[in-house]
Amino acid sequence: MTFSPEAITQAAIDSFAAADNPRLKTIMQSLVKHLHAFAQETNLTEAEWMAGIQFLTATGHKCDDVRQEFILLSDTLGLSMLLVALHDGAQQGATEATVLGPFHTPDAPVLNNGADMTNGAPGEPLYVTGRVVSPDGKAVAHAMVDVWQADAEGLYDVQRGELHNERRARGLIQADKEGQFAFWTVLPEAYPVPTDGPVGQMLVNTGRHPWRPAHIHFMVKAEGYQPLITHIFREGDKYLNSDVVFGVRPSLVGKFQSHASGSAPDGREMKNSYWTLDYSFALQAG
Ligand code: BEZ
Ligand code: FE
Repeated sequence: MTFSPEAITQAAIDSFAAADNPRLKTIMQSLVKHLHAFAQETNLTEAEWMAGIQFLTATGHKCDDVRQEFILLSDTLGLSMLLVALHDGAQQGATEATVLGPFHTPDAPVLNNGADMTNGAPGEPLYVTGRVVSPDGKAVAHAMVDVWQADAEGLYDVQRGELHNERRARGLIQADKEGQFAFWTVLPEAYPVPTDGPVGQMLVNTGRHPWRPAHIHFMVKAEGYQPLITHIFREGDKYLNSDVVFGVRPSLVGKFQSHASGSAPDGREMKNSYWTLDYSFALQAG
């Protein structure tokens, strides 16, 4: 028997040879191959691996019903976005997807098309309009548009304990038969991902900032089409080129336009300045 590093790696790969589930076998053998290559490439010491184990243990301890530190780790290592990009398969003309993030809730208030979802969220008023279409530009009638975002202080409603689960800057709207939808909300601002856990410490230790550029999340669903999970980012945000979770795609940067007081496009009289955004979503056939 030989104990060369290569022999150890081969023995560990071969140990999965009899696995019944072929996909599990492929994943475990590849995991061992790349994990061993990583240790070889970095000449990883036992002390360093022990520090890694302690980091992973702390990551697990930080998780509870509402906090998922492992997903945050996957996000900040770019793995979540890599999987989105690998499986998005964006058909020509279809809107690109990006990460879901941890702040979607299944209970967004159902609102009328054109309604105001602000509900007290701080921020400058923003009127969003758009259309849901197919990649060749035909209307997708009655699509469901699920929207959620951070407010001007960079917080989601679910991060504000004082709201006791009240929803704000979040809503579910059904587009009309032409695929058109509209709503009022507040202008989103950039915000940091949660930094009070081991992932935040990892960002500090490696000289990385924790910020995401300002964005609005959308989940768009319609019968006969693949669900689309994406964001629209604010043009000009200083973090567009360094999103901590690598979620920005140039096609997802929207033009948020500033307006002086006066009549908004839906006729609302605005005493102060406000913003508009128009962005259309093209769904892939499902
Ligand atoms: C978000 O945009 O909500 C988000 C995405 C990934 C990690 C943390 C937050
Ligand atoms: Fe977000």
